[in-house]
Amino acid sequence: MTEKGVMRAALCARYGDAAAVAMQEVPRPVPGAGEVLVRIQASTLDSADRRIRALDMPPGFGPMARLAFGFRRPRQPIFGTTLAGTVEAIGPGVTRFQPGEAVVASTGAAQGCHAEYRVISERKAIVAKPEALGFEAAAAVIFGGMTARFFLEEKAQVTKGQSVLVIGAGGAVGIAAVQFARAAGARVTACCSSGKANWVLAQGADAVIDYRAAGWPEAHHAAFDMVIDTVGAVPARQAARLAREGGTLVVVSASLRDLLALPTLKARTGRVVVGGMVPDHPEGLARVMAHAEARRLRPAIGARFPLERIAEAHALIDAGHKAGSIVITMGPADLSAPS
Ligand SMILES: NC(=O)c1ccc[n+]([C@@H]2O[C@H](COP(=O)([O-])OP(=O)(O)OC[C@H]3O[C@@H](n4cnc5c(N)ncnc54)[C@H](OP(=O)(O)O)[C@@H]3O)[C@@H](O)[C@H]2O)c1
Repeated sequence: MTEKGVMRAALCARYGDAAAVAMQEVPRPVPGAGEVLVRIQASTLDSADRRIRALDMPPGFGPMARLAFGFRRPRQPIFGTTLAGTVEAIGPGVTRFQPGEAVVASTGAAQGCHAEYRVISERKAIVAKPEALGFEAAAAVIFGGMTARFFLEEKAQVTKGQSVLVIGAGGAVGIAAVQFARAAGARVTACCSSGKANWVLAQGADAVIDYRAAGWPEAHHAAFDMVIDTVGAVPARQAARLAREGGTLVVVSASLRDLLALPTLKARTGRVVVGGMVPDHPEGLARVMAHAEARRLRPAIGARFPLERIAEAHALIDAGHKAGSIVITMGPADLSAPS
């Protein structure tokens, strides 16, 4: 623990590789009116953090990235969009939280969670952490859970008996989609690398397709009621045709060209097409926590790193095959907590 008034944080001073991120002591934030100061116990390093640090956007989005995130270097040098921790202090006028309360938050594009403390408005996506979930477990379900829930529950409304293909099932969003669709009573086929097949089956998939195998994707034409693509490696037009006529394609990640063509894709393919950006609102986060408490979403933690070793976590994510969530821990190990 650092002395009062300062905190340890991982700062990214430039766009680039994992070595661009280093630990520093910075001023500890102070909660203003309506704000909550959270002492963070756990966060995650997600695809969103890597995309910004490496300026590695889906094809077509590159030119917009510096405008959005900072021209010469990241405008927000502290990455991290998820946190689980304890309310340390509250600012004037806060009514929803008390010091000592365990909370989770999703900070989205504002980031700032790879640090010991973060201030967040009580009106943003911050909710009570269920007691049944430890800090690491709670942090681990936020990013993938928010995304899978938004697309499968709110937008595409997956239902019992449907056959669902999840492309990119080995990642944070994909594995949450596998769990979520399975909990809804769907029959789930997971598309991932062969090395993750057993892990993905253990997470609830009924069948696995290796995306490097002969016949992928052509051999699976019109084979599913719903296809959720979290990778964008298959062109959207082809991914849509993996669903049957009248079925649904859910586009989580795609090139700018494919995204611009989504509105006409339904007419061209006869499939319903769903896309969009996941909003960071408290209701969505509360739903994710309720699903996690009911074990419909479960933490799938591929690796853990203490905050001091976050550069190693960045190097791992750069390899491109992370499994589920990478948890970043700030406090002592969460060994007693359920996961
Ligand atoms: N629309 C939104 O609002 C929204 C929100 C969140 C995330 N996203 C996007 O969703 C995507 C996934 O995010 P994530 O956090 O799940 O990423 P992630 O954890 O890094 O997982 C991506 C997974 O894709 C797998 N993969 C790589 N190439 C593949 C291929 N050709 N076919 C099938 N799987 C392949 C990799 O596993 P293996 O190769 O080892 O199997 C990897 O684990 C990102 O592009 C992110 O930007 C969008």
